Amino acid sequence: MTKQQAISVTTPMTQDLPKEKFDELETFIDQMETTKGALIEILHKAQNLFGYLPRDVQLFVARKLGIPGAEVYGVVSFYSYFTTKPRGKYTISCCMGTACFVRGADKIIERLKEILGIESNEITEDGLFTLIDVRCIGACGLAPIVKVDEKVYGRVKEEELEDIINTYRLLEGKK
Ligand code: FES
Repeated sequence: MTKQQAISVTTPMTQDLPKEKFDELETFIDQMETTKGALIEILHKAQNLFGYLPRDVQLFVARKLGIPGAEVYGVVSFYSYFTTKPRGKYTISCCMGTACFVRGADKIIERLKEILGIESNEITEDGLFTLIDVRCIGACGLAPIVKVDEKVYGRVKEEELEDIINTYRLLEGKK
């Protein structure tokens, strides 16, 4: 019996987070050959399932792996990819790394805030968008960069941003 199977985990008592998702996460972990060094992979799975990593989910992972909650929190807070707050349907990431910054990322993010009516790490009222600022995403040649989920918009200009956002609003029938 592997270490993680030997640990009895009770599903947290929370009304907002569906039990089925905890079950699915538990199955995912139980099926791993080893959980050693797999914390990041497990957190990715958890964030895909829940959309974010609230305290209950972090504690669930910690109990399941038999590690301190602080260790899980340390990883969650280190990587900008992970979030402890619910996100909108689309995540708009504005790269604030050096190359993007030099090419006007500060103006890009200000314009995005204006169009969306939110600050970084907030969700728009309609639940469609979350805006985050991220560190270099490794495509500096295309600076400045904005990503909507995994779609990359390179050498993006302030005046293009509204059209980009409207594309997603249209897709959702919100325009
Ligand atoms: S600084 Fe933005 S992609 Fe590298």
